Amino acid sequence: MNRMKDKVCVVTGGARGIGRGIAETFAREGATCVYALDMNDSEFAALAKAYPAIKGVVVNVTDGAAVEAFVQRAVAEHGRIDVLVNNAGITKDALVQKMTEEMWDAVINVNLKGVFLMTKYVAPVMMEKGAGSIVSISSVVGLDGNIGQSNYAATKGGVVAMTKGWAREFARKGAKVRVNCVSPGYTRTPMIETVPEKVLEPIIARTPLGRLAEIQDIANGVLFLSCDESAFVTGQVLRVDGGLVL
Ligand SMILES: NC(=O)c1ccc[n+]([C@@H]2O[C@H](COP(=O)([O-])OP(=O)(O)OC[C@H]3O[C@@H](n4cnc5c(N)ncnc54)[C@H](O)[C@@H]3O)[C@@H](O)[C@H]2O)c1
Repeated sequence: MNRMKDKVCVVTGGARGIGRGIAETFAREGATCVYALDMNDSEFAALAKAYPAIKGVVVNVTDGAAVEAFVQRAVAEHGRIDVLVNNAGITKDALVQKMTEEMWDAVINVNLKGVFLMTKYVAPVMMEKGAGSIVSISSVVGLDGNIGQSNYAATKGGVVAMTKGWAREFARKGAKVRVNCVSPGYTRTPMIETVPEKVLEPIIARTPLGRLAEIQDIANGVLFLSCDESAFVTGQVLRVDGGLVL
């Protein structure tokens, strides 16, 4: 239970859902510090009480100045960032003819620009140290598309493409900065609370392993890619979806 020993970690969208599960898993695995970045601070006190290594910080990942200031703070406090998990994400679903420009822009901003900004400011810190692991959360929808989710699918496909480019970009000059992503299947979190069971049932029926993902399933995949057990893995998409997308 010490796979994250001595590591300084950053998890965006860390206050609830998958991000919270990842932050808690890192803390249980002995991380020195897990910064849980979120716009919603209502859970920060409870998180810090249960896991003293977790520090909640209010950061909107679409705000470049706030992201840069946070990275400067983390470096001042620890001198390094070992792991970045780009997890914060939102949905605003509609069939394409009903999707407004605001819905398009909002999802692109958080899911794509947010991943870009976090990586833009954290990757140089890792490059300087010569090591690090960046894990971004994509989705089955980024690999397969989905009705009513063209904005979301574009961002999650974009995460896969950025991951592959960055895997090459951040391994230059002898740096061992690894970049991977996890593609979760439908996972029981607040994000899918509004999805009716009648929509979820056929998805479960099409899933070879016959269920939705639990938060811990996704956190386990992220843990593997974040810790040193995956030292020779970069540029990959780890599908944690029960075989939904093959
Ligand atoms: N739940 C699923 O079925 C599922 C499936 C595949 C992929 N994903 C992806 O997993 C990630 C987490 O999803 P979840 O289900 O836990 O979502 P969630 O809605 O339960 O939690 C997302 C968290 O991100 C935070 N957040 C949103 N916008 C932010 C911003 N601009 N800056 C900082 N924080 C912000 C929210 O406050 C929230 O705490 C997302 O990227 C999502 O697209 C989820």
